[in-house]
Amino acid sequence: MKIIKAKNYTEMSQLASERIFDKIKNVANVTLGLATGGTPTRTYQYLIDDYEKNNTSYSHVTTFNLDEYIGLSPNDSNSYRYYMDKHLFNHIPIPKEQTHIPNGLAKDLQLECEAYEKKIDNHGIDLQILGLGSNGHIGFNEPGTNFDSNTHVVNLADSTREANARFFNSLEEVPTKAITMGIRSIMKSKEIILLVSGERKKEALTRLLDGEVDESFPASILKQHPNVTIIADKAVLGEKGVSLAYNYAN
Ligand code: PGA
Repeated sequence: MKIIKAKNYTEMSQLASERIFDKIKNVANVTLGLATGGTPTRTYQYLIDDYEKNNTSYSHVTTFNLDEYIGLSPNDSNSYRYYMDKHLFNHIPIPKEQTHIPNGLAKDLQLECEAYEKKIDNHGIDLQILGLGSNGHIGFNEPGTNFDSNTHVVNLADSTREANARFFNSLEEVPTKAITMGIRSIMKSKEIILLVSGERKKEALTRLLDGEVDESFPASILKQHPNVTIIADKAVLGEKGVSLAYNYAN
C-alpha cells in the first residue's frame, strides 16, 4: 500500500481526480468503480470541471458503483443512483446505460446480485475508488463480512445507519438493508484508491495501517491487494502521519 498525504480535503480530491483522468485519457474502454458518501463529492466536482474545460470524452467509460440501498427508488434523493446523477453523471457526457448501480428495488435481490457480479466480471474494473467507513467497512461490507464475498445483500450496521442519518430526515428513514459489491468483487479491481479525510476517520485509518488483516475490519484486506494507494489528508494523518510502517509517497 502506498500512502499519499494531502494537505487537505481539496488536495485529496484533486489528487484522486488526477488518477481518474489518467485512466480516462490513457485506457481504451476504461471501467471505473465508483463510491458515494461525503468523501468523493469534490473528486467528482473536479471531473466535471475538467470536462467543462477540456471537453473530455466519456463515450469509452463504463462505471460500476459499490452499493445501493434496498427499497429506495432512483428518484429518491437518498438513493445512490440519485447521488451519482446529481454529483457526476448529469454533468458529463457518459451514456447512462454505461453507468451501473445495483437495483435496490429488484424483485429478486439474489438474482440482481448475481447479474451485477457477472457484469463486473465481463468488464473488469481498472480503477476502484473507495471511501472508508468509521467501522472499517468498504462499500457496505460491514465488520464480519466474509473476505470471499461477491455482490450480496447486507444488513447495515447500526453505526453505519447512524453515520448516514445525516443525509436523511431521521435515523428511522435510513434503510436497514443494501446491496453491495463483496470484498472479493472489490479485490478483483486492478487498482484501488482509498480516500480518507477528516479527523473522525483517524481511528479507522490507524487500525487499517497498524492492525491485522481480519474480517472484523473489512478494509484490512486491502493490505493484500497489489496496487492500493491511500490518499489521506492531514486532518486524518496528522503532521507526521499515523504509522511509520509505510512509505509516504508525499
Ligand atoms: P463518507 O462514508 O464518505 O460519507 O465518510 C464513507 C463510507 O462509509 O464508506
